[in-house]
Amino acid sequence: MSDIRWQRKDLLGLEELSRQEIEHILETAASFKEVSTRDIKKVPALRGKTVVNLFYEPSTRTRVSFEVASKRLSADVINVAIESSSVKKGETLIDTGKNIQALKADILVVRHASAGAPVMLARNLKISVVNGGDGWHEHPTQALLDMLTLKEKMGKIEGLNVSIVGDIGHSRVARSNIWGLTKLGAKVKVCAPKMLIPEGIEKMGATVTHDINEALADADAVNVLRMQFERDSKTAFPDQIEYFNSFGITKERLKKAKKDIMVMHPGPINRGIEIASDVADGENSVILEQVTNGIAARMAVLYLVSQAQDEQR
Ligand code: CP
Repeated sequence: MSDIRWQRKDLLGLEELSRQEIEHILETAASFKEVSTRDIKKVPALRGKTVVNLFYEPSTRTRVSFEVASKRLSADVINVAIESSSVKKGETLIDTGKNIQALKADILVVRHASAGAPVMLARNLKISVVNGGDGWHEHPTQALLDMLTLKEKMGKIEGLNVSIVGDIGHSRVARSNIWGLTKLGAKVKVCAPKMLIPEGIEKMGATVTHDINEALADADAVNVLRMQFERDSKTAFPDQIEYFNSFGITKERLKKAKKDIMVMHPGPINRGIEIASDVADGENSVILEQVTNGIAARMAVLYLVSQAQDEQR
């Protein structure tokens, strides 16, 4: 186990974490994986604690796995239904957070369309705040579960070639993966048409290609991203058929890649746009294993921030 003492009451992004901190989360997550294989899938680590999921944007995987992770740790968990909450009467994010704190929650997991929303909450609250995805900024627990899956399958992250293909520009998953993977010594390549690559992405440590064959040629893993049509106007995106023809991950294209290339996707999948169905369901796909690893990654995060909060009290 890495020799560090976790001291953060919040998990806001991977940009601010050190290599040692990321490795510590991954090691903690790996140790929690066994809990889900027990007959009684529970440990008492967060007994008496309350986790509140506050999701301003739709989610299946992240929200459900934070709920499952909380329950595995014996916490009480409450999901705020935004549509029937007082957010609809105009309550601000900070006021909502302060009220959840006043209701004696211990950890607030937030997903929000605005980049920086979790940081703003963390500055205004004493309870722990965990980022469940903020705008185009970061999705730290997704990158953690991606890295957990890579490490499990490949035995290491240092020196791996990881290509991220798809809508890089609108993707918090891409940003968190680039921060995390490069800190752990992987080589990250991003691949998309020019209109989906943000300017200056090289400064984060990734290299850029617009050639899908080049992205796949030496990749140990390809992380495929959907186009986030909900985040921009139609003109910000390429034509879907043209995109699939030029960048879609197909069996034909994978024939030129390493035989055991790992095909990853954070979900939700848009079959036939960024990935062919037979690849998504094929032998190289680890997409559902990523989802399962989300439980352990989120257990680790909830456990570590809760411990830090207890120590700071
Ligand atoms: N990967 C991911 O964030 O999926 P959800 O939007 O379903 O949570």
